[in-house]
Amino acid sequence: MPILEVRQLSMRFGGLTAVDNLSFEVEDGSIHGLIGPNGAGKTTTFNLISGYYVPSGGQVIYDGRDISGKKTSAIAALGLIRTFQGTTLFHELSVFENVLVGAHLKAESNVFDSVLGRDRARQKAAEDRACEVLDFFGLLTRRDELASALPHGLQRALGMAVALMSEPRLLMLDEPFTGMNPEETRHMMGLMERVRGRGVTLLLVEHDMQAVMGLCERITVMNFGSLLAEGTPEEIRNNPEVITAYLGASIDKELLDAAAR
Ligand SMILES: Nc1ncnc2c1ncn2[C@@H]1O[C@H](COP(=O)(O)OP(=O)(O)OP(=O)(O)O)[C@@H](O)[C@H]1O
Ligand SMILES: [Mg+2]
Repeated sequence: MPILEVRQLSMRFGGLTAVDNLSFEVEDGSIHGLIGPNGAGKTTTFNLISGYYVPSGGQVIYDGRDISGKKTSAIAALGLIRTFQGTTLFHELSVFENVLVGAHLKAESNVFDSVLGRDRARQKAAEDRACEVLDFFGLLTRRDELASALPHGLQRALGMAVALMSEPRLLMLDEPFTGMNPEETRHMMGLMERVRGRGVTLLLVEHDMQAVMGLCERITVMNFGSLLAEGTPEEIRNNPEVITAYLGASIDKELLDAAAR
């Protein structure tokens, strides 16, 4: 059974159709890739699934229920968590404090609980869990360092640790490998496999083809807001339409670069 079904999803911004009648499914327990050239509509699709935008048309079915148009907080509470393109850490906070913030993304403490001291038990539970999650990511020894002091690859790993604090069932990651060197990429791929091993389904937007092809069981390809192809890494790699879409994009980029010179 799929954990996520995107049905004929559309998003229009004025005259521009960023997502155009897009349908795909994500199998429970899988690592699924969503790829496509720049501007294909991948981040917009994430924004629609996670409730940041209300779709112009279509539905998002998560765990059997229609969540289209629901609030981000309600969707997060159901265990559908997304990260943003670029790092979103609090750089002036420690590694440990950043992960603790993740605990509050889902379970917001309320004023009465604080006054009555009920928060203390919850705080303790959150701290224990933060230690467990940091240990899982190999970051426990660096818990007191400032987030900004971590190398880039570990900042990305910390971002995933923050997301994991809210106990996602489906974790959507927008370009988690950006700017990583090959060693950081390999490390991150291992972490993702282990997160999936905890029963978390991963939906991955990514341009790093080595990572996408190495991790994903299935890949959905978007181009100009629409579905271009869907299949296994092997099928996608050898799909002429996919190759043309990417080639077209890189040729455009070369022309743009040449024009800029
Ligand atoms: N809030 C918005 N208002 C107007 N247009 C938007 C908005 N968000 C995205 N777009 C446009 O929608 C299209 C798809 O953008 P989107 O960010 O989803 O692409 P993407 O596939 O994530 O690209 P990239 O790989 O570069 O991150 C682009 O043409 C973009 O300019
Ligand atoms: Mg994007």
